[in-house]
Amino acid sequence: MNIIVTGGAGFIGGNFVHRMVKKYPEDTIINVDLLTYAGNLETCKPVENEPNYKFYRGDIADADFVNRVFEAEKPDIVVNFAAESHVDRSITDPGIFVHSNVLGTVTLLDACRRYGIKRYHQVSTDEVYGDLPLDRPDLFFTETTPLHTSSPYSSSKASADLFVLAYHRTFGLPVTISRCSNNYGPYHFPEKLIPLMISRALADEELPVYGDGANVRDWLHVSDHCAAIDLIIHNGRVGEVYNVGGHNERTNLEVVKTILHALNKPESLIRFVKDRPGHDRRYAIDPTKLETELGWKPEYNFDTGIAQTIEWYLNNREWWEHIISGEYQNYFENMYGERLS
Ligand code: NAD
Ligand code: DAU
Repeated sequence: MNIIVTGGAGFIGGNFVHRMVKKYPEDTIINVDLLTYAGNLETCKPVENEPNYKFYRGDIADADFVNRVFEAEKPDIVVNFAAESHVDRSITDPGIFVHSNVLGTVTLLDACRRYGIKRYHQVSTDEVYGDLPLDRPDLFFTETTPLHTSSPYSSSKASADLFVLAYHRTFGLPVTISRCSNNYGPYHFPEKLIPLMISRALADEELPVYGDGANVRDWLHVSDHCAAIDLIIHNGRVGEVYNVGGHNERTNLEVVKTILHALNKPESLIRFVKDRPGHDRRYAIDPTKLETELGWKPEYNFDTGIAQTIEWYLNNREWWEHIISGEYQNYFENMYGERLS
């Protein structure tokens, strides 16, 4: 099969590309990525010379580009990870989130209709459900929880989900959607909480905690998310939404303290800063549907996953130091410049 993975130079898409290239040597994995500030081809180094891996640079909202890729590759499956993904950036620049997350998704759906595919999978987020109160630990997001977004980011993702479901109902497109909680693990861009705190703690820099640090996130190791998507695209029911999460809720302060203790750094590095506007209080996923229908079970809990992640950041300093220095943005030119000229 030919499988297009968009956003494969990003955090989760990159981990998914690694998994699929290695696990399915008979399939061709076609990575389509614009290489925005969040796209890093150094993430794809472990697979870049594999015979069943290909890369195209381009914008999923550019219909001519998307049609050219579909024409050339005739995909059986499309898995859409490509998106602007950082809530803070969506507060300062919402427009690009509409472009990549909404228009990009619709452009891919149109190409899927035109060329025909066996499955379109949309990688969505638990943030489409809004947030839960801190004093109701008995409440969880299920697939039927109403969409109730807070940020421009989550609004763009919810909008994309609605288009995906509309293309299924109106045009019969074979789609699935996964809505996952917060991911962490290798190749996570150091603007997000966990890699930011690890890299700053290692440099003995202050760790900015928003508000009172009591906001709760439900953390899932990225490899468990990738395993869930692999199961859904192969065995999930068409037209269905699947929540993905492993019941690993932690306050932000707990996460930051865990990282400091693991690195043997003092809690005095913590600096409480002005809160994120509209900051969601708690996310918590009920993954029962995925577990009972598809037999998914996470391999990591938060303690084993964060230990593995910290070790990865200690052993792969070059990867994240290149991001902090900006050097990673030269990788495409160094790697592909001659081939393109
Ligand atoms: P990321 O920001 O690390 O990577 C996004 C990738 O998409 C980058 O490689 C970027 O270059 C690419 N991209 C952005 N706009 C593009 C465009 N217009 N055309 C082509 N490529 C484009 O994001 P991530 O954290 O890996 O998230 C991947 C997906 O998973 C997103 O759709 C996000 O909404 C969703 N998600 C993320 C999390 C999380 O915790 N990170 C949780 C649930 C769902
Ligand atoms: O829930 C899934 C979502 O998780 C994904 O859809 C998003 O793409 C992904 O970025 C993530 O969103 P969050 O906003 O939860 O992640 P972030 O790492 O930005 O922040 C996690 C929590 O930590 C949040 O409550 C804000 C807080 N935070 C974040 C940063 C960057 C801080 O306190 N300080 C910080 O410097």
